[in-house]
Amino acid sequence: MPQTSVIYVLNGPNLNLLGVREPDIYGHETLADIETLCVDAADGAEIVFRQTNHEGELIDWVQEARDKASALVLNAAGYTHTSVALLDALKTLTIPIVECHLSNPAARERFRHRSYVSPVATGIISGFGPISYELAVKAALGLVQKRTGAQGRSV
Ligand code: DQA
Repeated sequence: MPQTSVIYVLNGPNLNLLGVREPDIYGHETLADIETLCVDAADGAEIVFRQTNHEGELIDWVQEARDKASALVLNAAGYTHTSVALLDALKTLTIPIVECHLSNPAARERFRHRSYVSPVATGIISGFGPISYELAVKAALGLVQKRTGAQGRSV
């Protein structure tokens, strides 16, 4: 685990279009606005914030998080509901995983009720719009502190 807490915040497909994409569901904030929220919520911890439209790239970043991150906040977007390969990658992590969604998929179409992320997530935060990310980063930090002790020691 890194000495300073490093929270990876990884975003899946179409989240680059936040602000213009179905604003009635996802709101008017852009992904850049959400990154700022995450950095502000991080309380000095390092935030690595990325988005990709490509499943393989998302999996590469999950694998990278194995060595480089203290915790992972993941909004896998559409891949949440489809990607066994993503689940397999997540299973290799030993750090806390916080599944995060802007909307509440459980309250939407049936095909969004299945999540391949939830079985390996430490917890799930969804339905609060951009605040979901703020809560997810805070939850991730809390989990890291619990694991390492208040002074950031490794145990
Ligand atoms: C989403 C919910 C998913 O069902 C959807 O495919 C997304 C965004 C959310 O943040 O609410 O792209 O992950």
